[in-house]
Amino acid sequence: MTQLSPAPLLSFDNVNISYRVHGVDVTAVSGVSFDLAPGDRMAIVGESGSGKSTLSMAVAGFLSAPNATVTHDRAMFDGKPLDRTVIHRVARRTPGLSMVFQDAMTSLDPVWSVGSQLLNVLRSEARRAGRRLSPATARAEAHLWLSRVGLTDSDRVMKARPFELSGGMRQRVMLAIALCGKPRLLVADEPTSALDAALSREVMELMVQLTEESGAALIIVTHDIGLCLDYAHRVLVMSKGRVVDDVDAGAIESTATDPYTIGLLACVPTLDSVHLAELPTLEAVRRRAIAEERLAS
Ligand SMILES: Nc1ncnc2c1ncn2[C@@H]1O[C@H](COP(=O)(O)OP(=O)(O)OP(=O)(O)O)[C@@H](O)[C@H]1O
Ligand SMILES: [Mg+2]
Repeated sequence: MTQLSPAPLLSFDNVNISYRVHGVDVTAVSGVSFDLAPGDRMAIVGESGSGKSTLSMAVAGFLSAPNATVTHDRAMFDGKPLDRTVIHRVARRTPGLSMVFQDAMTSLDPVWSVGSQLLNVLRSEARRAGRRLSPATARAEAHLWLSRVGLTDSDRVMKARPFELSGGMRQRVMLAIALCGKPRLLVADEPTSALDAALSREVMELMVQLTEESGAALIIVTHDIGLCLDYAHRVLVMSKGRVVDDVDAGAIESTATDPYTIGLLACVPTLDSVHLAELPTLEAVRRRAIAEERLAS
């Protein structure tokens, strides 16, 4: 008997996103299609301006630029159509979907304590779910979430305002806020690029561990193809608004077909890089490929 694959959690077909700039429509994302299964972990990688944030914000419902237009043949989340055709001035979050942004300092409100921001989200998620949440239970849940993201000193963290915490602590708070509503999909746009290498790995591991525990799917947007290969099942490579490769993370070296992906992989520093006079750049890899092609012809 053939095994039926589970219905996709997220299904995008032919998504196009443009911005109106000085009266001209500029395409940022073009003809993107992908399905994401429940619990799947997908990374979106690509150079600056390739459309990673535009795509991930459209997925999560945070694309609120008044000048943005989205068209698609299909955009479904959890079996329901995602209204992404009309972009509203105020972002509309879809229940079941959460997002973590690159810079926790600008994503958290500088005026309010971390505790009050976390409690607000817990209360609004409870209201949405029709659940009564007493002040004592809300506080207990807030402390629990802070300890789940590794902030053991939760009494101090609850009272602190964002500027009183380190970058890594703020990113953990963002993760608690994003996950406390028990989303089925977490979209993380460059969640670790403001952190150093060791902390980046800690936050990635935490994100993977917590989404695995809850069964949530994860989309990680990153510049760092080396980092995402250790955590994602699958990699979507974007260049100039298009998906140029959609491959299994474990088999990327043998299955990537686009020269851009092959170039990106060649630029990842390894332990052997220490023997090189200089690290390869994307431009150097491109030049070498062109030279080799000329020699071969
Ligand atoms: N609000 C906006 N108005 C007009 N153009 C925009 C807007 N936001 C993004 N763009 C343009 O859309 C294109 C894709 O940008 P996007 O931010 O999605 O890229 P990215 O891959 O996330 O880049 P980065 O790695 O630097 O974050 C770029 O050309 C960018 O200038
Ligand atoms: Mg971006």
